[in-house]
This record gives sequence, C-alpha cells and structure tokens, in this order.
Amino acid sequence: MSEVPTRATNRAGASPTDPSSPSIDARWKEEGTIPPPARFTAQANVRNPTIFERFSEERFPACFEEYARLLDWSTPWKTVLDTSHPPFWRWFEGGTLNASHNCVDRHLAERGDQPAMIFVPEDEAEAVQYIAYRELHQRVNEFAALLRDFAGLRRGDRVTFHLPMTPELPISMLAAARIGAVHCEVFGGFSGAACGTRIADSGSRVLVTMDGYSRNGRTIDHFANVEAAVRSAESMGQRVDKVLVWSRHPGRSLTTHPLKDGRDHRIEDLIGRYAGKRVDPEPMASTDPLFLMYTSGTTGKPKGCQHSTGGYLAYVTGTAKYVLDLKPEDIYWCTADIGWITGHSYVVYGPLAIGGTTVLYEGVPSYPDPSRSWRISERLGVNIFHTSPTLIRQLRKTAPEEPHRHGQKFRLMATVGEPIEPEVWRWFYDEVGKGEAAVVDTWWQTETGGFLCSTVPGIHPMKPGSAGPAVPGIFPVILDEDGRPIERGSGHAGIICIRNPWPGIMQTIWGDPHRFLEQYYSRFCRDEKSTDWRDWPYVTGDGAIQGADGYFRILGRLDDVIKVAGHRLGAKELESACLKVPEVAEAAAVPLADELKGRVPDIYISLKPGAPPAAEVAARVRSSIVELIGKVAAPQHVYVVDDMPKTRSGKIMRRVLAALSNGVDAGDTTTLVNPEIVASIRKVVAQAPRASPGLSAEALHKEVRDTE
Ligand code: PRX
Repeated sequence: MSEVPTRATNRAGASPTDPSSPSIDARWKEEGTIPPPARFTAQANVRNPTIFERFSEERFPACFEEYARLLDWSTPWKTVLDTSHPPFWRWFEGGTLNASHNCVDRHLAERGDQPAMIFVPEDEAEAVQYIAYRELHQRVNEFAALLRDFAGLRRGDRVTFHLPMTPELPISMLAAARIGAVHCEVFGGFSGAACGTRIADSGSRVLVTMDGYSRNGRTIDHFANVEAAVRSAESMGQRVDKVLVWSRHPGRSLTTHPLKDGRDHRIEDLIGRYAGKRVDPEPMASTDPLFLMYTSGTTGKPKGCQHSTGGYLAYVTGTAKYVLDLKPEDIYWCTADIGWITGHSYVVYGPLAIGGTTVLYEGVPSYPDPSRSWRISERLGVNIFHTSPTLIRQLRKTAPEEPHRHGQKFRLMATVGEPIEPEVWRWFYDEVGKGEAAVVDTWWQTETGGFLCSTVPGIHPMKPGSAGPAVPGIFPVILDEDGRPIERGSGHAGIICIRNPWPGIMQTIWGDPHRFLEQYYSRFCRDEKSTDWRDWPYVTGDGAIQGADGYFRILGRLDDVIKVAGHRLGAKELESACLKVPEVAEAAAVPLADELKGRVPDIYISLKPGAPPAAEVAARVRSSIVELIGKVAAPQHVYVVDDMPKTRSGKIMRRVLAALSNGVDAGDTTTLVNPEIVASIRKVVAQAPRASPGLSAEALHKEVRDTE
C-alpha cells in the first residue's frame, strides 16, 4: 500500500490501494446460474427482454419517462434531463407533483379500504394494526395541518424526525412532503447527540420524536434522547423551538423524562384540533428536495444526501415495480428500518406510490425467537420479503430448520446492503423461499436513491453471490486507478462507476456542493467544463468484478466505511468519538470480520501521559462511541496500546492494526518508523477474548486504508 497519497486520493478521498491488483479477489468464486421459478416469471411485471431496448443508451434519458409516467403530475415536465450544471442533474424539469398525493390521495378512489400499511408491534400480545389508505389519508392530513399551523413549517423548511419503526414515521414523512417541508429522518437507534448534529446541519427548528417503543422485549425510553439532541444542535448554533412527541400508546407515557414547558408538546394533546382537517398537497417542482438522508463517508462529518421529489419518486416507483415485482394486491414486507435509505425507498415511497400494502415491524425480526419472521409472514400473507444478509445469516445459524416448519409463501425475496455469501443465498432460496421464490440481490447506496444492479427477476437467471447486471437505464463501468475501463470477464477488480445520471441519484450534499463534486465526480471527470453527461461518471466507492455474462460481484467499500450488519459507519466518525475522551492521544478504527454482522469495529487507542488505568479509559471510549453515534457502533474490542504503528510521515497504518485484529499476517512493516510496536500490540490483542474468524488478507488489503 502506498504511503504517499496518490492524485486520486487527494481528489476523491478514495483508496490509494490498487483494486485491479490480481491479488484482490472476491470472497468467493463465481457461481453458476439458476433460472427463476417458472411460476414467478409467468406473472412477473416485466417478462419481455425488450425492456432493455426501451432503456438502451440510445434512448437515454427519454427512457426514464416510462418511470415518470407511473406518477400523477400536476404540471407535466418540459425537459427530461437538464445537464446544464453538471453534476447537478435536473430530472423532469418544469414538472410539478406532490409525493404525499402520489402515495396516498391518488389511491383513495380505487383502494381506499385496502391496507396501505400493516403495523406489527414487537409484543405479540399487542394487536396488529391495519391502516387503510383512507385512514392514512386522514392521519397524514391532520398531521400536515399540525406541522403547518402549530409548528409553523412551510415549503422548503427542514424538519428532523428521530422516530422508531411505527406508523407515525411514514405518517410524519408524508405529512411533511404534503406541505413541501424537507424531512430528515435520523435512524431511531442513533443517539441524541448524533441526532443533534443532523438537526444542526439541516437547519431544522422542529424535531419530531416519540416517547418510547419496544425492542428486544424492552421498552426503550426514546424521549430520553431529546435533551442531548437539542443541546448538541444548540452547541452548533441551531436552536430547536419545538419538539413534537408522538405517544406510542396514547394515554400511557413510555418516558420517565419530563417534557419541557413551551418547547415539548405531546402530539396526542394537539392533534384533536386538526381532526378532519384537509391540507391541499403543495405542488412541488420535480427538482425540489423531498428529504435529506445522512450517511457516513470518508470524513468525520455525516453527509446529508439530498433527494429530489420527481426524479427520486419516479425512480423508486419504477424499480419497485420492475425489480421487486410489486403490485397493488401484494403484501410486501421489507425488514429495513425506515431510518435508512432502504426504508425510505422500499418501505415507504416505492410501495405506497404503487398502491401496495407495506408491512412495518416495530422490533427485532428474531424476537422473541428465530421463527418470528416466518410467523409474521404466514399470518399476514406476506408474498414479497425483503431483508438483509445479516438477518439471513443469523436465522440460518440459530434455527436452520425453522422456515420449513412454517407456512410462509413468498413469490419474491430481495436482499440488500451487503454481499451475500453463496451458501447463505442457497439456504435463503431453498429453505426460506422453499425453491418457489425468485431472489434478487440488490446493490445500491444511500446516494443512489434506488437500485443500481440486480437481476430483473422475470427475465434474468439468478446467480448466488452476484448482484446481477445493471438494472434498466443504468450503465456501469469498472475503472482501474487511472480511469481505464477494465474488461468484463477479465477477472480483475476495479472501482465500479455509473457512466450516466439517473432520476434517483442524489442532487447534492446538503450545504456542501463542493464536497458532492469532489466525493462522487471529480476523480474520473474527463472535462469539468463539459455539459455532456458522458464526461461525468459517478464514482460509487465500491470495488467490483464483472463476469463474462455481465453480472457484477460487489466486493465492498474502497474507503473508510465499515458496514456493520448493513449499517454504514465511518471510521473517522468512530475515531473522533474516541478522541472526545480527553486522555486519548490517538485512535484508529478498523473492521473485524464477524460471522453474522459481516463486520464490527475494533478500536485502538493510545493514551496521553499520566492517563488513568487503561481499562477505565477503554470503558469511557466505548461509552463515548455509544453516546455520540449509537449502540450500532459499539466496538467489539477497545485495545489500549503504547503507540500506533506509524509511517515516517506520521500516518497511522490501519492496515497493520486490522491485520492484528483479524489474526492475519501484518505484511510488510518495514516502512514503519516504529516496527517494534507491532509485537507489543499483537500481545495486547492476544489477551482479548476472540470470537471472530478474522478477515482474509485479501479482503483486508482491499478494505483498510491508512489514516492521514
Ligand atoms: O458497499 C456497498 C454496500 O452498501 C453500500 C451502501 O450502503 P448504504 O448507503 O448504507 O446503503 C445500503 C442500502 C442500499 C454500498 O456502497 N451494498 C449495498 N448493497 C449491496 C452492497 N454490497 C454488496 N451487495 C449488495 N447487494
């Protein structure tokens, strides 16, 4: 690994590793293909391969009108794609529409009584709630009136939500969208401090939260996060005027914390004023932002990915129809939390725009036992099941026989968020789907709004361990470090980029267009003055290999992102949480392979002179991470070491630390200024309990970058 940042590193913050090196291979070999079940293809929304002619490069960008036409527009668009200010693409320019109208109102005439959502509380003793489109319409309107008339929100204002998985979350999103406010949902499992950072960055003066919810059999006092959120936002210069608090059980509070007079308001006390109120959906420009979704990247500061109204909604609707094969009569369950992009695109907006029924589950899919998901699916008649490899791995390990004992019957199953091992894929296909469900492995990102690669299930054969070819209208290319295309079928890995814009791509990073340009486009841009989209490939930051048949195997991130159970964490964010503990001199976060979660963070810290005992500081580092980011980021180990392995220029060699964590050869340490430290760190690591099988040397070389 090079010590000197390459030009590419400087410009795009990407890895200085050479992903095209033959030593960097996928974690598994390419598999053979399996045809999708005939019963599936016979009824699929897309069966005719001419779709790829309709979405060919020659027909780009007009091909995407096919998706836009799935929506109701108040004013039709004039220009399909405006490329005048690359890479700030403007889709369906001139058109106006409202997302709330498209997900709710337009379905009332035909399916007002059909459930839009089915809410499954974690506690099995609590009744399942069926929320018909008509009821959803009423609740969205009433809350929209409250947001407008009580909270004073107007079109273009940002509003932060810190909500768990209950119907109040989609209701809040659709209410905000109705009045044109830009919603920023922060994952409910994130800490108050993490929420506060996002409140400040988005400039929200209203926070919507909930008193509590159930998770893993415990009642979480979620309102307890509010003080830290407001304080942290205020320390960054953003005042929060109003905190609106949903009650998980109206009439029975789940928080022990007092509400602050004048600032905090229980929605159950206010909503009666808006009973029966109707709020006209605000006609929004296609290019107006619909929401911000914060995600981790190469720096310590989360990026607010700004998604548009028209392009985004068209793209998630089109892909939900063509790739998830969603139809209005389906009972569709995606286990993703709405606090992440998968939940926005494929729990809320895509399924509701189609007029389907989307299942919302409050808790942990393996609670109280590993059959819970199969029981829910059987009872509700779920026929499309969408989940993460982490959950599949866990259920396969803990109760491999269980799916066969239950009557779940899926037509299609989808995975998202991480690569899925072929043997795990096979178990999913054989045992969970009973060989009767088509499986799609969908590869995409927070930034991309919707799917980039996946098989189109009515057309393509499935290949375990490969995401598949590009979805219609997406034209990927794998580039080497110098931007030269790598030939398909060559067996070489490279950086997967998308050559063309598409309607779901984020518009910018909120408040930081420069970083947007640098992060995603500068690296391989052929001419920064060009207004031809062909000069502006989108850099995904993932490594990939393309088989001779065009299928892509995604190898993982080439930057400092650690994916823990599909959640995206930035190494820099973890490190800055460590450095908040005053006794910590230096910190490094590295990925440790985990049999179930894919990866978990391992932390290395060195202390300032005169620091208290190591165990005490390590415990404080752990609490600081949980407090500043959330429990999802809790490290497996916090190792206190005498010094970090460093290069002559003072960079911490994360690669060496990751090798020690994962029990593999640390490789060449001759470039270190302090090679003797490696043996002493190895001793510290050897003393800790280890459950992990470790990461292979190849995967390590690919994933881990040294700090600057
Ligand atoms: O590395 C890829 C991995 O998840 C990253 C995006 O994470 P996030 O923005 O949190 O979005 C997750 C949900 C779309 C990608 O850069 N990733 C996502 N899907 C897959 C995947 N890796 C392999 N296979 C997938 N299907």
